[in-house]
Amino acid sequence: MTSHILDKPPQGAAEDWTVPQHWSRYTADDHAIWDMLFARQLALLPGRASQSYLRGLDLLRLSKPGIPDFTELSDRLMATTGWQVVAVPGLVPDAVFFDHLAHRRFVAGNFIRTRAQLDYLQEPDVFHDIFGHVPMLADPVFADYLQAYGKGGLRSLEYGALGRLARLYWYTVEFGLVQEEGALRIYGSGIVSSHGETRFALDDPSPNRIGFDLMRVMRTRYRIDDYQQSYFVIPDFATLLRATEETDFAPLYAEMAHLPDIRPDEIVAGDRVLSRGTQAHALSRA
Ligand code: PHE
Ligand code: FE
Repeated sequence: MTSHILDKPPQGAAEDWTVPQHWSRYTADDHAIWDMLFARQLALLPGRASQSYLRGLDLLRLSKPGIPDFTELSDRLMATTGWQVVAVPGLVPDAVFFDHLAHRRFVAGNFIRTRAQLDYLQEPDVFHDIFGHVPMLADPVFADYLQAYGKGGLRSLEYGALGRLARLYWYTVEFGLVQEEGALRIYGSGIVSSHGETRFALDDPSPNRIGFDLMRVMRTRYRIDDYQQSYFVIPDFATLLRATEETDFAPLYAEMAHLPDIRPDEIVAGDRVLSRGTQAHALSRA
């Protein structure tokens, strides 16, 4: 999610670390890469992505094709749920990231991947940040969840519990699954923006799919180098919002300090297992 690369804004960035998107500097090829990735995911997502996500996608259909202009996108998002999109130079400090979320500002990188990186890249680019995250921000309940998460993030710093809370973000905002009309649907940005993981998360026998439980998730380590070994399933977004916003995390942080971490592939007592994975994918890569 975030890490400390610098401790003050780099040259050209504002006090809050934002930079101009410089939309006019994108090349025709940059826009063509966006359009290609967009079309490729669009062909895959109906029936696989949550209705909330699919409804929000309309927001990205702006007056011109290619990489969205953040100003135009922010105007539309602001009119929908009061969120904005702001550009930042790559990773920003945790407190800066949380503060933006707490003020309903989503931070996005402004560079786009190259043609050699269509399927995989380490750092989130504008396709991941915008295509992956922004449609969910058009959902009023999810929009409130992400703001509450930002406030909770600032609070977690006071308890030295950033790592715990980062796991919640990872297994919901980035890689979450939701139950809809009796089936599983994807809503996590890391899945919906990935051609390979869109299918893997729903259809592959390899990963575990486990009912969401707050403490369980915050105890679970995650992988950043491959598809997830476990996905957590929420019943709906209102339940996620209630379970997090109405819970004081301070006693949970205190309790977790005495509990061991859970491995990314592990099933533990008390899990509501929707499907137990074979882990064949991870084993084949080990
Ligand atoms: N209620 C949490 C706390 O006490 C904050 C939070 C809200 C965290 C929503 C995540 C999501 O810290
Ligand atoms: Fe992301």
